[in-house]
Amino acid sequence: MTNIPKEFKLEKIINHTEYLIDGKISSWIGKQAKVYSTLLCDSEDKEPFLIGNTPEMSAEYALKALDSAHKAYNYGQGSWPTMKVYERINCMENFVKKMILERDKIIKLLMWEIGKNLNDSIKEFDRTVEYINDTIEEYKIIDRKGATFQNKSGVRALIRRGPLGVVLCLGPYNYPLNETFALLIPAIIMGNTTIFKPAKHGVLLIAPLLNAFKESFPPGVVNIVFGRGREIATPIMETGKVDVLALIGHSSSAISLQDLHPQKSRLRLVLGLEAKNPGIILKDADIDLTVEECISGTLSFNGQRCTALKILYVHEDIKEKFLNKFSKAVDKLKLGLPWENTLLTPLPEPTKPKYISDLINDAVSKGAKIINKKGGIKQKNFVFPAVLYPVSKDMNIFEEEQFGPVIPIISFKDISKPIKYMSESNYGQQVSIFGKDVDTLGPIIDSMVNLVCRVNLNSACQRGPDIYPFTGRKDSAVSTLSVHDALRSFSIRTFVASKDNELNKNILREMIDSKKSHFIRTDYYL
Ligand code: G3H
Repeated sequence: MTNIPKEFKLEKIINHTEYLIDGKISSWIGKQAKVYSTLLCDSEDKEPFLIGNTPEMSAEYALKALDSAHKAYNYGQGSWPTMKVYERINCMENFVKKMILERDKIIKLLMWEIGKNLNDSIKEFDRTVEYINDTIEEYKIIDRKGATFQNKSGVRALIRRGPLGVVLCLGPYNYPLNETFALLIPAIIMGNTTIFKPAKHGVLLIAPLLNAFKESFPPGVVNIVFGRGREIATPIMETGKVDVLALIGHSSSAISLQDLHPQKSRLRLVLGLEAKNPGIILKDADIDLTVEECISGTLSFNGQRCTALKILYVHEDIKEKFLNKFSKAVDKLKLGLPWENTLLTPLPEPTKPKYISDLINDAVSKGAKIINKKGGIKQKNFVFPAVLYPVSKDMNIFEEEQFGPVIPIISFKDISKPIKYMSESNYGQQVSIFGKDVDTLGPIIDSMVNLVCRVNLNSACQRGPDIYPFTGRKDSAVSTLSVHDALRSFSIRTFVASKDNELNKNILREMIDSKKSHFIRTDYYL
């Protein structure tokens, strides 16, 4: 491995054998899955590079993890779901302190395992720590709000949010730390117990955190198993003992997992799924700003973001100008290794370059042109982004979520054309609209807010900041995530009510003074 800065070199193959079940870290002695990195295979003669091994655990162990989570929850009677809020917060604070110690290792593995550039890998780690800290603060606010009695129509009530039960957490490969933890952390802190299986890529980077989880939470609260989704998640779902399926990934996996649950009406879903966010460029758009936003929108992390702009609609009047500037800007982008901090980096999925090339070939065979000079140039681990124009309905790229470096463009005269696309689309996450005239923008925005869940004005689509709601309509999401909303999604309101009479008042007063209940209390944690 030449030319790799010393601090980013992987000295040896990481032979990870451990898993966490019931508060114990044990060593897996069965089958191991090989972890490859595609970073260095830039030509056909180079093969993906072996960087480690992880356990390929069996259904038997998946069920052990489930039993452990089930035992820790114990129908809501376990010590974790009934624990005082501040004690759960203390556990989480401990965890985040220990997690920070593993920062460098995790950032390095983000680069090796999924090819994310250095700045974005750093951002992913730091954003996750900030997310945890913000979650702790938000939970204190929610707890504080739940510390007052209400009295209506002669019924006194103390209403709080309680946990839901056992949560199966499955995250995506493009944000293997951040998005997985954006599910796991709120689920845990609200008093649920969890089973977590890392994504298909970005697995080794979870290993350094096993100990932090073990030392910070009581046995069974967090169970971490490794292996294939089919082997691990299928038997767990079939038992019907999962109360929440928390998944960020593809709707096909979410649907098949839900279908396995024998009592679907008790299964709560927290899902972040596919999207095909359009960028719509009106005739008075500021071209330079639009090009800049469309570059980051379509191509940050090579377009492997659910929030990426995946199709561009450009007004006929500025089509030439936009296509010209945009395709030149794409051709100027550099492909490099993650530590070189280029926007374009190798694709972690070995089959992705072929998939992207197939999309390009299909569009070209049906009349689209590759309008940038370098578009479609292929190497074993990458395809240079192709700007495709004009794209039409019969091309696969029109509907498919490419999740990679290829940019389909369509022109329009009347705004009804992109609006129709959005109305008929299976997805409804976000849109970006570029323009200046308020008379034109106003009604368009009013239509779009009912088709998606975030309209970005002269800005690329994105999830953050994490205090804003992240969700989608149609097949793009179920439930809302944000620091605040995730705490709601992983909990339910539950309360104690009493007729307002002297007997009940005295009991409640005594209960509060004696601190005999963790639920009935009016104090809160600062
Ligand atoms: O893959 C989808 C992510 O939630 C996108 O998040 O907009 O912060 O890149 P981001």
